[in-house]
Amino acid sequence: MYRTRAYVPYSHFMVGAAVETAQAIYGGCNVENASYGATICAERTAILKAVSEEGSIQLQRVTVVTDTPEGVPPCALCLQVIAEFGAADTIVDIANLKGVVRTYTLGELLPQTFTEVPV
Ligand code: THU
Repeated sequence: MYRTRAYVPYSHFMVGAAVETAQAIYGGCNVENASYGATICAERTAILKAVSEEGSIQLQRVTVVTDTPEGVPPCALCLQVIAEFGAADTIVDIANLKGVVRTYTLGELLPQTFTEVPV
């Protein structure tokens, strides 16, 4: 559902995402910008919705949905944001319109994680 709300006048590539916290599931879509770098991926849209609703969250599962045979994994920026609010065992489901096609953990996709600023 969220995928069809994607704002994608530049890439025309619609992406939907759902993130599961201990309390709820939040959906999101990608929102592009004429200044391409200001584009927000579907995963980050959904995560920021969760944070703005709940405050501190712990991501249990992230699902990314595209209309492609193999699905697509989260980009590196999104993996970093998932790491901020998740853990090595956070599940990342990669899905297409028929269902989940691949499942990873965050630890598999981002094994070396920068999550603390050395002081
Ligand atoms: N995109 C996402 O929303 N999530 C991904 O996992 C991969 C890429 C978006 C960003 C941009 O709007 C479009 O897909 C093409 O890169």
